[in-house]
Amino acid sequence: MKMRLKLKSVFVLYFMVSLLGLIYALMQLGQRCDCTGHDIPKERVISRLRGELHRLQEQMRKSGEIQQPQKDPKSSLPTIFVITPTYARLVQKAELTRLSQTFLHVPQLHWIVVEDSNHKTPLVRDLLAKSGLTYTHLHVATAKERKLQEGDPNWLKPRGVEQRNEALHWLRQETHKQQGVVYFADDDNTYSLQLFEEMRNTQRVSVWPVGLVGGMKYEKPVVEGGKVVRFHTGWRPSRPFPMDMAGFAVSLKLVLANPDSWFDGMAPMGFLESSFLQGLVTMDQLEPKADDCSLVLVWHTRTEKPKMKREEALQAQGLGSDPHMEV
Ligand code: UGA
Ligand code: MN
Repeated sequence: MKMRLKLKSVFVLYFMVSLLGLIYALMQLGQRCDCTGHDIPKERVISRLRGELHRLQEQMRKSGEIQQPQKDPKSSLPTIFVITPTYARLVQKAELTRLSQTFLHVPQLHWIVVEDSNHKTPLVRDLLAKSGLTYTHLHVATAKERKLQEGDPNWLKPRGVEQRNEALHWLRQETHKQQGVVYFADDDNTYSLQLFEEMRNTQRVSVWPVGLVGGMKYEKPVVEGGKVVRFHTGWRPSRPFPMDMAGFAVSLKLVLANPDSWFDGMAPMGFLESSFLQGLVTMDQLEPKADDCSLVLVWHTRTEKPKMKREEALQAQGLGSDPHMEV
């Protein structure tokens, strides 16, 4: 009996304490607080609520409750077809990684990668598949007699010629009169994002300066009264178009309207760009971009060939790097 009474009073006491706690908590809720010391939790709550709101909006959007604008404004932009010849070498994956990650920032870009190879390599295939870009993967091997051999000075033979022509062939087969621009972007150059917006509305052929090229700080078309009147270059300014490949873009319409314009692999040194442009445009038709050609937005950078002395020494001892690991 005594035992039961004790248990009952413990229970009543416990009930009273809980009730008091509850009343105190309710009173606190009603009070205005001095929040200066609580800024961080408040921020956290706001950010959590924002996250929640975003999540709910996403859900509503997916279930079709919020109407999407009828047309994605990006898809009405002219497409930039970027043509990149590339060949297998130690730095190839590094070059293509840098390039692809630049292109990811450019809306409505279609990357045409043409391997100088008899087949499509797994390295390039996988890189493209994982890139998140819209792309076309092509290949064509440069004929042996036209290809630079180990130790040849690089000016001896033009590079990337058959590959660019292969891409032109693809464009002429697969695209039809759509609004677009064609740009030849070598895999080792450095491209500013602004460059792509400069070229996007090219009517025929647009032009701009190229940095660090031809033994100069820059080469560029000279613009007077909105027209290109000559070229600032250190070598043979009398060439029809003394410009680097990185310094111009051509409208897709013009490429399609001139099905016989190709790069000429037999053109003398420095005349490769002219061989293609000659049939397409005259100097006074060129469209100067990049603030009347006063801005450098692309650089003719060249990557140093990595030295493999230590790798070779280790290989000789059977301790070289794993040949199956992709670099
Ligand atoms: C300069 C120009 O910037 C090039 O556009 C031009 O094609 C070249 O000269 C030339 O005269 O042929 P440069 O830096 O000397 O460029 O050339 P690379 O960057 O070595 O090659 C140009 C492109 O062709 C690159 O995208 C490269 O990957 C590719 N290439 C190079 C091949 O596809 N196969 C090769 O055997 C070598
Ligand atoms: Mn280069």
